[in-house]
Amino acid sequence: MQIVRPNVDRPLAARGPYDFVVVSNRLPVDRVTDDDGVQGWRRSPGGLVTALAPVMEGHDGAWVGWHGAPGETLEPFDNQNMHLVPVPLSEEEVELYYEGFANSTLWPLYHDVIAPPEFHRTWWDAYHQVNLRFGEAVAAVAAEGATVWVQDYQLQLVPQYLRELRPDLVIGFFNHIPFPSPEIFAQMPWRQSILEGLLGADLIGFQRPSDTANFLRCTRRFLGATVKARHVNLETASGGARRSSRAEPFPISIDVGRIQELAVRPDVIARAKQIREDLGNPKTILLGVDRLDYTKGITHRLKAYGELLHDGSLKVEDAALIQVASPSRERVESYRLLREEVDGMVGRINGQFDTMQNTAIRYLHHSYPVEEMVALYLAADVMLVTALRDGMNLVAKEYVASRVDSTGALVLSEFTGAADQLKAALQVNPHDIDGLKETIVKAVNLSRSESGRRMRSMRRQVLDHDVQRWSRDFLATLAQSAAKGGAHLP
Ligand code: F6P
Repeated sequence: MQIVRPNVDRPLAARGPYDFVVVSNRLPVDRVTDDDGVQGWRRSPGGLVTALAPVMEGHDGAWVGWHGAPGETLEPFDNQNMHLVPVPLSEEEVELYYEGFANSTLWPLYHDVIAPPEFHRTWWDAYHQVNLRFGEAVAAVAAEGATVWVQDYQLQLVPQYLRELRPDLVIGFFNHIPFPSPEIFAQMPWRQSILEGLLGADLIGFQRPSDTANFLRCTRRFLGATVKARHVNLETASGGARRSSRAEPFPISIDVGRIQELAVRPDVIARAKQIREDLGNPKTILLGVDRLDYTKGITHRLKAYGELLHDGSLKVEDAALIQVASPSRERVESYRLLREEVDGMVGRINGQFDTMQNTAIRYLHHSYPVEEMVALYLAADVMLVTALRDGMNLVAKEYVASRVDSTGALVLSEFTGAADQLKAALQVNPHDIDGLKETIVKAVNLSRSESGRRMRSMRRQVLDHDVQRWSRDFLATLAQSAAKGGAHLP
């Protein structure tokens, strides 16, 4: 198939009025229907939108993204002081671009091939067609010299398309998931195109220093780029002027203020108490909260927990595990298989250990509003985060932020981005089931003074680094990189 290139002859008059544009695969709103059947939009919960909404309001801001309904085309609309520009995706594009290339090629490849990535040329074609559409939508609304911030792995070609369409723009990109080592990235048949796509940005942000280093090594190895002090210099296709992009780590965080506010609200505290009572007031409540995704290590956690019950280290009368697994990407085969596996494991463990009064695992295949999540965090003595690979893991940071009295223990996989910052967590290698079991037992029995010391240390880190600071840091570095003229070296 012929690769479609952007139409760079767009007349200047087609520029839009917005001087700050965010672009992500999904718009930060959910469709809701009120009691009278009237449809509207509600801002989705989540740190990214919380961090960026004030920036949007301070500038003339627009957010470009898919509104979540396949085959539907919508006009731009305003919601809570944000201008939203929906990008349409057909049923076929959802299948090939979103479920296919984004979530069955890039997602497993970037998460250390925990599941085997599939490489299909039809998926790749759809990916670059859709990326081009997102790029054109941004180019049409961005004002002269506007700042554009592209989010995540679904849109890695957008920076380059935008650069070609609108050389006047300041372009940032942030990758929310890990970036793989060159040894793994080498498998990608379109590896050069993806790297060139990202290098359209003036600043490329990653979660961890190791992701940044992986990306820089990939540009050297697969593009022959020169890398100096985290700046990538690349000859343009014409061999003329050189372009330079900067790559830096910016570990993302959460809306700490909002979580803390909920953690002291009387109704949320009462709900936490209710949750404990509903479980029969066990000595220890353990909690797992994840999207139902194979990167999260849910089966490893369940295996360890089942063995602890089996060998008597934990007793169902004393301990209860709540596992929230929110539905995700349910039409993708590997997610369907995971659900079957988790359902089966939970069924077997509960069948073996439940009593009339006690249940071993309270398994909830739902999503919950943030108020309920904070009540769960408050109810839990031990939080289990056992991801096999995770860009950051914001659940770990939310748990820490909600523990305003500095109680509670966090078991945290060393393969999460959060492990870089939450050094005082009980860190584990989730593949080491014996090690995981020992750490869970240690967390359950942690003395008040040791858990307090660890939690206070983690709280200092999280309270000092909220998502607002993350977005400020990124945007300040982006402005600095662009002001230095880094984008166009002589
Ligand atoms: O960063 C991971 C990510 O893919 C985000 O882009 C997205 O908001 C979240 O996980 C949920 O994924 P999805 O949009 O595929 O439901």
